[in-house]
Amino acid sequence: MADDELRGDLLFGPFELSSKERVLQRDGVALPLGSRALDILIYLVERPGKVIAKQELIDHVWPGVTVEEGNLRVHVAAIRKALGDGQFGNRYITNVKGRGYSFVGAVVALGGARESRNAKSNYQGRLPVRPIMMIGRDTVVSEVSSKLRNERFVTLLGPGGIGKTTIALAVGRAVTEEFGSEIYFVDLESLTDPHQVAGAVATSLGISLKSTDPVLELVDLVRSRKLLIILDSCEHVIEAVALIAEQLYQETQQVYLLTTSRELLKVEGENCCRVLPLDSPTDGSELTANALLRYPAVQLFVRRVAARAGGVVLTDEEAPLVAEMCRKLDGMPLAIELAAGQVAALGLKDTVSRLVSQPELLKLSHRTAVPRHRTLRATLDWSYDLLSDAERIVLRRIAPFVGHFTLEGARHVAGEPGEDAGEIFDAIAGLVEKSLIATRVDEAQAHYRLLDTTRAYALEKLEEHAEVDVVVRRHAEYIAGHLATPNRIRAERMLDKRTLRRAG
Ligand SMILES: Nc1ncnc2c1ncn2[C@@H]1O[C@H](COP(=O)(O)OP(=O)(O)O)[C@@H](O)[C@H]1O
Ligand SMILES: [Mg+2]
Repeated sequence: MADDELRGDLLFGPFELSSKERVLQRDGVALPLGSRALDILIYLVERPGKVIAKQELIDHVWPGVTVEEGNLRVHVAAIRKALGDGQFGNRYITNVKGRGYSFVGAVVALGGARESRNAKSNYQGRLPVRPIMMIGRDTVVSEVSSKLRNERFVTLLGPGGIGKTTIALAVGRAVTEEFGSEIYFVDLESLTDPHQVAGAVATSLGISLKSTDPVLELVDLVRSRKLLIILDSCEHVIEAVALIAEQLYQETQQVYLLTTSRELLKVEGENCCRVLPLDSPTDGSELTANALLRYPAVQLFVRRVAARAGGVVLTDEEAPLVAEMCRKLDGMPLAIELAAGQVAALGLKDTVSRLVSQPELLKLSHRTAVPRHRTLRATLDWSYDLLSDAERIVLRRIAPFVGHFTLEGARHVAGEPGEDAGEIFDAIAGLVEKSLIATRVDEAQAHYRLLDTTRAYALEKLEEHAEVDVVVRRHAEYIAGHLATPNRIRAERMLDKRTLRRAG
């Protein structure tokens, strides 16, 4: 066996392929595939990223027999159908014209192999090439694609590192049939001046603007075209993007817009789609390795560890640690990738125990990522810099809350005595809008929560300020007040023992 071939049980997307048992499963259920189709699939998946000549495949599957190429095509079509290849932006097998077939998904060998570094995704149009496969997210990609088709304008909203850009790229690929090569990806991240937004869009479209009103000129130039513009990472130039997006939406009929942002644009035509964390095992989940591998958060972690460490076997013993870690990281893909990077150096157990201490969360680093994604701290700095002063104050003062809290709780802990509660509420609303606070509404009232990573960051900010003792005391008083009420259990959950100890 060539040393870049994979063996054993192979994982890709939601599938598990066992070459020994000759079975392809999705979510533990075997998919009906004929024996020849399985031969072809196994041969391709064991050689991810390589182009396999059609004759080589025929010789392997039908040794010593003369077989028409059409036969091979029929079997490959059956495999692609079974995999849902081409749906929701997923690509597994491509036909490389004149050369053969290639498996382009990322593959993890469970039982001691590595993620293929050769795997190339088949990006189309003018979308950037990114050598990753998306895990999970089928539903959101299909929902956003259809919303985009029907409504023309969708914003993917969520905190940094949650997976907005990844989904936007997948949506771009999912709608290539309608737009062909007329899909343009505009990365706004590196822009510092809002005046450059129109120019950046124009450059991506291959046009240059000359007039003194670049927005008007841009709209004029694309008015008669059908195209999709993906505006990625809008939050720091939000007003300029809002203006351009609104004009493009109102003044044209066939310009489609997909934006990603930590904050909504709030303009006519915009449809919001909030990006949620990757599904992670909950507290009561079954904790065997196989049960956990159904969760996208765990799959992502295992793949990234495999890619770095050169091999991974998730044992039943380690499985609960991985589950705990995915929960701790709130199913946030960026945090999961960063944690996977640590496992290569520290091993699983030490990584998890380091993550339990909050500041360590923020130090996880990623040398190859864009600066904004290199550490969680950098991701959060990017958001923090975009906050108003009042929002910054409230963010750090609500840091002592673990789990859900209410507006009333936030007011008690973050407000100065005698201060107008409206200002605190405005700041909370601002933090929700900028994706720094997660919300849940039940029955009559809203509950708010900081993700663990955000909370670790907010605690650091609190500790940098002289007010730390006051805030911790107010929090302890508030919690103690609740302990005397029927809300005791909930209040107890909100209690952070460490913070209380400090106050005591
Ligand atoms: N569904 C996914 N499958 C695999 N990797 C993902 C997924 N979602 C996000 N990632 C990875 O997590 C990191 C952050 O994702 P990204 O889409 O850039 O987040 P955002 O745009 O919200 O800041 C990236 O390295 C990306 O490759
Ligand atoms: Mg992004």
